[in-house]
Amino acid sequence: MKKILLTGGIGYIGSHICVELLDKGYEVFVIDNLSNSSKKVLNQIELITRKKITFFEIDIREKHKLLKIFKKYSFDSVIHLAGLKSIGDSVKNPLDYYNNNVMGATTLLEVMSMVNCKSIIFSSSASVYGSFNEMPLSEYSHLSTSSPYAQTKLVIENLLKDVFNSDSDWNISILRYFNPVGAHQSGLIGESPTGIPNNLFPYISKVANGKLPKLTIFGNDYDTHDGTGIRDYIHVVDIANAHLKTIEFIQPESKVLVLNLGTGKGYSVLDIVREFELASNQTIPYEFAERRKGDVAKCYADPSLAFKLLDWKTNFKLSQMCEDAWNWEKSKPI
Ligand code: NAD
Ligand code: WQD
Repeated sequence: MKKILLTGGIGYIGSHICVELLDKGYEVFVIDNLSNSSKKVLNQIELITRKKITFFEIDIREKHKLLKIFKKYSFDSVIHLAGLKSIGDSVKNPLDYYNNNVMGATTLLEVMSMVNCKSIIFSSSASVYGSFNEMPLSEYSHLSTSSPYAQTKLVIENLLKDVFNSDSDWNISILRYFNPVGAHQSGLIGESPTGIPNNLFPYISKVANGKLPKLTIFGNDYDTHDGTGIRDYIHVVDIANAHLKTIEFIQPESKVLVLNLGTGKGYSVLDIVREFELASNQTIPYEFAERRKGDVAKCYADPSLAFKLLDWKTNFKLSQMCEDAWNWEKSKPI
């Protein structure tokens, strides 16, 4: 069976990909420096799948250690998730983001190239799309970034394309995630941001659980059906399954594939409040405030290319995303 290496593989999205890969019989290897995750996630994955992962606690910028690992195990493919991911934090600490994300990707590609492992799936983001695009966003929509985080994603996308242009043996898939939410239905893995969450789902989960007093809704004067911002929320297990489909799709002919991973449906913040109230059977107090700097009114995908090429579809509705996020919030075993 194929050997797959995940960098950043015990973080929020990586842990869900591990479960799906192990369930399908892949041999799974993970590199993570634990800067935003816990080793306990390994046990949780084992509890769900009854299978083991080979884990290396290193930073992907540690080139010699990375090379040693690549030389010892001949990986068939790499899923590159390792990176820093907070838009707000990246504005305050841009050097950390360029150093970690861009240096990390460069080191990884150098090592892969040295051992002739030329198949990579990269976690990109809808934040690479400019704010004046028509909706839905296709892979050909205009690219322009408004944060150092998004800029690192775009730099890495271009780096990958340049690598391919210099050596067409590479097989490169760039997956642009929209808003991954929810958690595994077991309640054993999910998202655990440290401190007060920035993103809507982890924040609303804590409000429903009484750990935060109320939700602040950023803006109620957007040009949307209820004035609040619209996003394309996608269940993290649907995101994970798209990676499996991408691995299955990677064919002997080399290529660069760029795909949107979204559901194609947009929901407003108030839609989410209502759905989360139903899922949790709790009232979610909220207040309206000014728009958040950098936010757009609407952002949702045209995912038809991924649906068609990968023979992939999204299976989870918004109600399930909220139920699983709530289930995780209540159980949080780690
Ligand atoms: P996460 O923070 O939960 O996972 C990232 C993992 O990478 C963490 O476990 C962290 O410890 C590890 N890591 C960071 N830098 C590292 C380094 N230099 N060496 C080794 N390990 C390192 O984040 P996530 O939500 O699982 O996101 C995974 C990827 O998907 C990230 O690249 C992120 O930018 C991208 N992405 C996430 C979202 C989202 O909303 N969660 C949306 C679009 C794209
Ligand atoms: C969603 C909506 C907010 C919190 C970013 C990146 C994206 C991905 C996910 C990495 C917006 C509103 C939020 C709150 C609110 N990450 N909101 N009150 O900004 O769409 O996406 O994170 O790549 O690429 O761009 O996600 O969850 O922060 O916000 O009203 O306390 O909820 O204004 O309309 P966002 P989000």
